[in-house]
Amino acid sequence: MVFDQAAYWKNRSKHYPEEFERHTPELRRFFCEQEFRFRQMLDRIDFSEVESVLEIGCGFGRMTGMMLKKLETAARYQAVDISPEQIKATKEKYGNRIQTRTADFRTEPFEPSDIVLVSEVFLHFPPGQIQIVLHKAQRLAKKYLIHIDPLLPVPESSRALAGRVKNYITGQTPLRWDWQHDYPRLYDYAKVDHLTVFPVGQGKSMIFLIKARERVGNRMPEAQRV
Ligand SMILES: C[S@@+](CC[C@H](N)C(=O)[O-])C[C@H]1O[C@@H](n2cnc3c(N)ncnc32)[C@H](O)[C@@H]1O
Repeated sequence: MVFDQAAYWKNRSKHYPEEFERHTPELRRFFCEQEFRFRQMLDRIDFSEVESVLEIGCGFGRMTGMMLKKLETAARYQAVDISPEQIKATKEKYGNRIQTRTADFRTEPFEPSDIVLVSEVFLHFPPGQIQIVLHKAQRLAKKYLIHIDPLLPVPESSRALAGRVKNYITGQTPLRWDWQHDYPRLYDYAKVDHLTVFPVGQGKSMIFLIKARERVGNRMPEAQRV
């Protein structure tokens, strides 16, 4: 079964805000904590010098408003999503305060921005694509990359994924296309000090704050640039 990211999100986006309304109390608490930690993290950033933000996979703008509150009114905010429905929802919420664009982060070019925000998006990229998109996001971030994603210590094996697909085909579970990536290895964060990690939900998810200026070279493989 081939994963068509655009088609999957086009379909799922039609009901995505309702997904949030149906969350279990536990999941609701998790997202509340995530948003609280995100605001705490934003307090660490000196916004006086931030003139531009690129948000990748903005969804219906859940994190957008919190970031906008911190920005000077003149700052440019571009919210991007592969799904036109999500873009429409975000545009309706924030109107002319932001620029919106329906685009696939994997294939389209983007202007570098002071902050690149990517929340709960990279989990939807299969293992073969994750290094490429992570590297692309890092390159586009002139000052900070803020990256929010679930984190499990062990990435999903192809066997586990096959099991997930099988359960879907046999009608046992709806198919959720997401993966737990090995971010400690991808960021090599045992060795670097430009990365701050904020755990959420007892470490089930992480907010990574990566300061671009102090980045030591480009740790991601050059050959894999998009
Ligand atoms: C789980 S939602 C997260 C939405 C929002 N960032 C949040 O934290 O609530 C993932 C979003 O990523 C978008 N997305 C998935 N693949 C994408 C791609 N290749 N390029 C741009 N956006 C993508 C989806 O359409 C969806 O809105």
